[in-house]
Amino acid sequence: MSARPGSSKQSKITVRSLHEKKQAGEKIVCLTAYDASFARVLDQADVDVVLVGDSLGMVVQGHETTLPVTVEDMLYHSQMVAKSLSHSLMIVDMPFLSYTSVEAALENAGLFMKEAGAQMVKLEGGADQADIVSALVQHGIPVCAHLGLQPQKVHKLGGYRVQGREASAAEAMLEEAQILEQAGADLIVLECVPSELAEKITKALSIPVIGIGASAACDGQILVLYDILGLSMGRVPKFSHNFLSETGSIQAAVSAYVAAVKSGEFPGADHVFS
Ligand code: KIV
Repeated sequence: MSARPGSSKQSKITVRSLHEKKQAGEKIVCLTAYDASFARVLDQADVDVVLVGDSLGMVVQGHETTLPVTVEDMLYHSQMVAKSLSHSLMIVDMPFLSYTSVEAALENAGLFMKEAGAQMVKLEGGADQADIVSALVQHGIPVCAHLGLQPQKVHKLGGYRVQGREASAAEAMLEEAQILEQAGADLIVLECVPSELAEKITKALSIPVIGIGASAACDGQILVLYDILGLSMGRVPKFSHNFLSETGSIQAAVSAYVAAVKSGEFPGADHVFS
């Protein structure tokens, strides 16, 4: 790992440094970004991971779900974000139906790695995705898996709901997380999961677990950038917090989020589910 030329900031975040942070008990700070200007703010605030999320379908494009987002959209936005990142690690979301076979997953993830400089891709799903995860990893493409509420399955789930509340569903989610780790995933996002279950999964895995509406005990946290800036489309999710209203500038809001995640102050009891 080398420091940025002419910069006193920390060195580039890598998959390895994320693992080291988990081992050291150091919280991993993640946020979404979709363009070069916001990505620069995040990079300069020492955000560890910038996710070019398919949430852009909702917060940038104004769709009701993430389903209309295309591979071309993700490539376009990740190329812009990548231009501003010299510290943060960039993860690019695989959009809906872009990883329905090993061949499709390799082709599309390959585009994000080759043409946008992604350091990792994220895909939604559990044990059913283990073969895809393993094929990507075998070809040198690090994978972040996404369990719990999977927005690409919103119609099947019947809405954006907390997942894993029943004992059998909780047990299945823990098992799926372990299968994904064994398949080679380097990171797992847990979205809208009861805090006790999120803590159990975090402790059971050796790879970092990143929560959103999960638990303060997760190895790190992620939120949608627009939510922390008070730009949520519709209702502010319970698991988010407007950091702009109490700071007064975008830079200060992002820095306040970074500090709150690092200190363990965020998420508080109001931002998680039982
Ligand atoms: O698309 C996205 O922004 C995400 C995060 C909310 C985890 O998947």
